[in-house]
Amino acid sequence: MVKKTLIAATAISLSAMALTACGSDSDSSAGADGDSGNGSITMGFAQVGAESGWRSANTKSIEDSAKEAGIDLKFSDAQQKQENQIKAIRSYIQQKVDVIAFSPVVETGWDTVLQEAKRANIPVILTDRAVDSEDTSLYKTFLGSDFVEEGQKAGQWLVDNAADSDVDGDGDIDVVQLEGTTGAAPAIDRGEGFADAISADPKISVIASQTGDFTRDGGKQVMESFLQSEKGIDVVFAHNDDMGLGAIEAIKAAGLTPGKDIKIITVDAVKDGMTALAAGEINYIVECNPLLGPQLMDLAEKVVAGEDVPERVVTEETTFDQEQAAEALPTREY
Ligand code: AHR
Repeated sequence: MVKKTLIAATAISLSAMALTACGSDSDSSAGADGDSGNGSITMGFAQVGAESGWRSANTKSIEDSAKEAGIDLKFSDAQQKQENQIKAIRSYIQQKVDVIAFSPVVETGWDTVLQEAKRANIPVILTDRAVDSEDTSLYKTFLGSDFVEEGQKAGQWLVDNAADSDVDGDGDIDVVQLEGTTGAAPAIDRGEGFADAISADPKISVIASQTGDFTRDGGKQVMESFLQSEKGIDVVFAHNDDMGLGAIEAIKAAGLTPGKDIKIITVDAVKDGMTALAAGEINYIVECNPLLGPQLMDLAEKVVAGEDVPERVVTEETTFDQEQAAEALPTREY
């Protein structure tokens, strides 16, 4: 018996070491076996990374809400690598947590590990991003934004403001797109929604599109290369604020004025993005709400109690122009 416990404890600490080696993890619970000893729920959360202001706000919301709900949170940061997320999920299965939640870095490639969770009878909740799997029994619910709609809202603003967006006056509105992480749901869906909306105006076209991996540095580098390779850029559509902020740096370095010489549309509405919008350096932001923690904890409690939950919970979101950003900024939470 003692020997068995020792072997199990060694296996758990080895897997914890492996997890630490490939990403970073933290544990707010007392026990290492998924049971905090006080009868509360233990959640294993596999986060994408810390790539953007949005992600930091999302992580804080999850940590704060877990504390508030008395849920023991085991948290890991996958540094934007799918293999790290898979390792984290396997470690949570081994630790027999009560529920696993994660925001999949990319859409595909999850079936095997989710089947392992299902076999272990551990319910899974998707937050923020979806998986592309035909077997919807592999997760209980998906809480997050409608990314296609976000892209459509961005494109619709451009269609509505087409007359002011032909900055070089050549009769066409030439857009460059800074895509999110390749294969990630928000990159795929925002791109699709935007393309769908701008198809209403044949003068608008995306002349170049490349991933900036949702990071500020990525956005800056891709924009620098667009400024060299493309003539007459009128508009930047960045799949998140951070890449838009990186593009602003590149545009300024090229001696141009962001928001005037090149219009900028982004998604998220985090504080840094809203500050740039209020200052006139961004023209429009579609909100993507990162404060998913309270709803996630509520869903987790229900799922662990065996209660029914909706298959899909869509986050409510709005949009901001420059005036609205100035009004909203003083009370903006993130
Ligand atoms: O999945 C949500 C997206 O991921 C946010 O828009 C972006 O900022 C983040 O990195």
